[in-house]
Order: sequence, then C-alpha cells, then structure tokens
Amino acid sequence: MKFRAPAKAGAFTEGHMYNYRMLETDKLEFVTVASTDELGDGERKLLDIDGDIIAVFNIAGAYFAIADVCSHDDGPVAEGEVIGTEIECPRHGARFDLATGEALTLPAVVDIPSYPVRVVGAEIQIGLPVE
Ligand code: FES
Repeated sequence: MKFRAPAKAGAFTEGHMYNYRMLETDKLEFVTVASTDELGDGERKLLDIDGDIIAVFNIAGAYFAIADVCSHDDGPVAEGEVIGTEIECPRHGARFDLATGEALTLPAVVDIPSYPVRVVGAEIQIGLPVE
C-alpha cells in the first residue's frame, strides 16, 4: 500500500489543507480498520498505519478519523476528551473539529489531518490520501 503520509509531528504548515474528506475518491485508498461490532457508540480506536497513528471514533453512529498529532506541540490529541463532535487536546486544551480537523481554539492555529470514513457491510474503512 502506498499513500502520502499524513502530517508528521512538527511538520504542520499553516494554510495547508488537511481535511482529506474533501478529496475525490480516486485520490483516496480505503482500508478496513475495524468492524462495526468492535467500535461501539462513544468508543475510539488507535491505529498504527505505517508508523502514523490515526484514531477512528464512533459518536452516536457517526464515524470520524483524525491523525493523533496535535498541531500545537505534537500532543496526543486523539486521547483527549470528546465534546460533541469536537476533541480537546489533553496537553494544552486546544479544540479541533473531528469532522474537518479544523483548529477551533488556541493555542492551536493550524488544522490537523481528518480522513473520510465509510461503512461497507460490517467494516469501517478510512480513506487515506494516495500519492
Ligand atoms: S499540544 Fe495540543 S494543545 Fe498543545
């Protein structure tokens, strides 16, 4: 599998588009990351995809996926508290939109990667940007 790596720690660029949900499907490769049985409502799962940590969430039956790297200071943002469809970085409290990766509050000012998620049968799949 070959895909463009998401932003690495310390590699965020202001103004860069990290919302991979905006990409056309021919620019994505979907991979199965869990079954619907193993990711219940309110649960999250961390995935190691070629060394990049991506987290997938089930919030009331809607699925979201983000990179587990805070754009402020590389904190483990996916371990933070979920409030609605936002997540709060456990290190300094920046909030991000789980759907778009948008940085909503300081101290973060740069968005984080967010990925499209789809359910095919009983499989949860995330779309990774291909090169
Ligand atoms: S590392 Fe996430 S808010 Fe500072």
